[in-house]
Amino acid sequence: MSSTIRNSSVGVGQAVLQRADVLATFSEDPDRLTRRFATPALREAGEQVREWMQAAGMTTWRDAIGNVWGRAEGTGPGTLIMGSHLDTVRGAGRYDGMLGVLVAIACAERAGPLSFSIEICGFADEEGVRYGTAYLGSGVIAGRFDSSALERIDADGISMADAIRAFGGDPDALECARRSGEDVLGYVEVHIEQGPVLEAEDEPVGVVTAIAGQTRAQVVFEGEAGHAGTVPMALRRDALAAAAEWILTVENFGRGTEGLVATVGESTVEPGAGNVIPGRVVLSLDLRHADDGIREAAHERLLRGATAIAQRRGLEATWSVVQETAAVACDPALTDALAAAAGGDVPRLPSGAGHDAAVMSQLAPVAMLFVRCKGGISHNPAESVTAADVAAAVEVTTRFLGTAPLLEGLG
Ligand code: HGY
Ligand code: MN
Ligand code: MN
Repeated sequence: MSSTIRNSSVGVGQAVLQRADVLATFSEDPDRLTRRFATPALREAGEQVREWMQAAGMTTWRDAIGNVWGRAEGTGPGTLIMGSHLDTVRGAGRYDGMLGVLVAIACAERAGPLSFSIEICGFADEEGVRYGTAYLGSGVIAGRFDSSALERIDADGISMADAIRAFGGDPDALECARRSGEDVLGYVEVHIEQGPVLEAEDEPVGVVTAIAGQTRAQVVFEGEAGHAGTVPMALRRDALAAAAEWILTVENFGRGTEGLVATVGESTVEPGAGNVIPGRVVLSLDLRHADDGIREAAHERLLRGATAIAQRRGLEATWSVVQETAAVACDPALTDALAAAAGGDVPRLPSGAGHDAAVMSQLAPVAMLFVRCKGGISHNPAESVTAADVAAAVEVTTRFLGTAPLLEGLG
């Protein structure tokens, strides 16, 4: 990384971090940052982002699913889309997603007139916390939205379609919100690394080579609820004990398979009383790997394991795939241009986390710039970046916008 980039004016970075602090105040939970799809907190965050986009001279709008857009006209043909997501996980950090939108706006403020137009998108749902399916916002833009998802019900019994209407969107107009790719030169996303590599290499930024594929599934163990005081241990069909045994097999299989990460992040225990043997347990399963074949084989193997444990214990195991996203390679030319703007000698690393860029790759060539984050911690309030590293990301992305390769041989 060149010293001029490393020493970019920290003030730009501090301004971005201050805006991230403002966005962090828009939360569903009073004592932690949670901002799910189509909630009032997400709407407030989107309105604040629109204000900043307008102050940067952009025209702004919201599309039918609630993505927030800003556009700065160029002097010539073609549009480069930048951005990231404005929704968060529960108990989130304040940079996952938001940093990409805020750095893009900072670039629009500094880049000056360009030969191509810039559009910045704050996607309405990348995490998939409310309805279990990720990438709702970018899925609509890239024409990959599965309309059957509109019938999914959230924990409060609200359908996705009704949530979109209440948010001011139009579930019947999602098809027309799809963006034509004709004029799109590419999509570039700046995002915290959410991993340890850049910190280990003492580099403020790096470019992404590929985004791992992911499988999101739901697994249900059905046993028999019973009295905790009267049913002998040998006669029980305890759904939580079966689930616990399977969760350990998921962890062991993940540990034993190179490059695989396997997570059970959500569980619902029914009926959920201390003196009742659990009769039913619903678990989430999240599998990631850079190689889709290995991920799919792992999925099969773990689900067979659930069936075997259930049968041995006299229970039933069923499952459904909520969403599968294939691994995506970032565009070499766009990525090389991003790396060149950073001085050329920057780390190139894969992303274990999913990103809207994975879906936007269906619409246009994509590239990602990773920003170092402390300890690689993310999906955690301790998520942290430095103003200096954010300033470096703004400098690199602004330089990238000024490079000709964007128009040569792309799109
Ligand atoms: O789960 C992910 O990889 C991302 O944070 N949505
Ligand atoms: Mn995330
Ligand atoms: Mn993210």
